[in-house]
Amino acid sequence: MALTADPATEANSAAANLIEATVTPKRRGTLLVVDDEDGARQSLRMVFKDDYDLLMAEDGPTAIKLAQDHPIDVAVLDIRMAGMSGIEVLERLRYVNPDIEAIMITAYETTDTIRQALRLRASDYINKPFEIATIRAAVSQAMQRRTLESEIHSSAEKIQQLLAELQNQRIEEQIAKTRGDIYASIIHDINGPLTVICGFVQVLNRRFNQASRLDVADLEFIRERLNIIRRQTSNCIEISRRYLGFLRRQKDETARVGVNQMLNDLNQLVRVHPSLQDNDFGIQLLAEDIGVKINGTDLIQILLNLAVNGFQCAPFSHRVDISGEVLQEPLRLQAFKDSPQDRLLNVEGFNNSAPLVKLRVRDDGPGIPPEVLPKIFQPYFTTKGPRQGTGLGLNIVQRLIKEGNGALHIHTHVGEGTTFTIYLPGAKLAK
Ligand SMILES: Nc1ncnc2c1ncn2[C@@H]1O[C@H](COP(=O)(O)OP(=O)(O)OP(=O)(O)O)[C@@H](O)[C@H]1O
Ligand SMILES: [Mg+2]
Repeated sequence: MALTADPATEANSAAANLIEATVTPKRRGTLLVVDDEDGARQSLRMVFKDDYDLLMAEDGPTAIKLAQDHPIDVAVLDIRMAGMSGIEVLERLRYVNPDIEAIMITAYETTDTIRQALRLRASDYINKPFEIATIRAAVSQAMQRRTLESEIHSSAEKIQQLLAELQNQRIEEQIAKTRGDIYASIIHDINGPLTVICGFVQVLNRRFNQASRLDVADLEFIRERLNIIRRQTSNCIEISRRYLGFLRRQKDETARVGVNQMLNDLNQLVRVHPSLQDNDFGIQLLAEDIGVKINGTDLIQILLNLAVNGFQCAPFSHRVDISGEVLQEPLRLQAFKDSPQDRLLNVEGFNNSAPLVKLRVRDDGPGIPPEVLPKIFQPYFTTKGPRQGTGLGLNIVQRLIKEGNGALHIHTHVGEGTTFTIYLPGAKLAK
């Protein structure tokens, strides 16, 4: 049987935007029929009323309003309509719901119109007059595509949810891991000052035990040692405060400390550090002092860790030097090439703007073999014997430099020694 655009028996213009609301447990597909001929609309209603929720529109504006108010799966649009053409209606429908499947009913349309419909992603074209079976098949296929699409969509949403959950879990694991690392770092870093404190307490103890009464020289001796102990104690407190602050995700205000002041403090620390032993140590201040955008304790921790590594890298007596200079130009990063002897770290987070403070810790120890170099920043990597090194020192150094938006370069040569160079953004000294 051929359906023509002849008026069907059920002519009822009030039914133009009526939705056939049959309540079924699973949502039936919703079909929108847009045709300005009442007869054609009613014929289509007869064909589809048992299969889908129907929305009928006699013109473009009604169709668009219906699409705004209801979720539509498939639209059957007559191209040739008075007022807004089917093509124009489809164009607007796409704004309301870009996923609607559209079936265009055509009658002697030009190829240009067909091309336009194609551009608007119409999924089918049916020529008037058409067989019921043809339009049924077209609508049914379009409905299936929509169901499939929405299933894919909801699966994608579920996958997205799962991914987000996984990510959350990973972050939590990461925090737990970071927590462990940070506690280990605190213990690592306060170990140095604690060793110094312990040594001085022993010295004082001996002095007290030997003297029956204290003279002026004794008092002076005690006062100096107590001063060092006080300094080291506040160092321990500051180190743990910084690390625990990191754990609470508080970023410390970047203190603008004078580099030379810090190098002087470091000098005092190194001079009394047990790892100095009978090695030579030299420290050279900046020709002109400058501030640096990093927490003072962090910078001292970085340099102390590097210096201690320098002292501990060889069993024989050797030399460690710390020196600094100010660079008035940004670094030419392309000039740095990683090699078995060279590494540049934290290029991505590096604030490469002048002035830069360049600090160098150099030793003339045994150097680092090429097969060891890639591993030295890994947490817990150490070539020292058990109970001699935790392997955390360089990992801490790298993390602190990263937090200070600095970069770190290593140059090493087996048999000649190793140089660690830190680049940090400089700052005007606060008056
Ligand atoms: N200046 C250096 N010369 C030669 N090897 C070095 C030097 N600095 C570091 N290394 C190598 O890198 C490894 C890791 O250093 P890191 O400071 O992370 O840990 P560690 O010094 O072994 O242990 P800890 O810092 O807990 O005492 C060292 O075990 C050593 O093999
Ligand atoms: Mg170390």
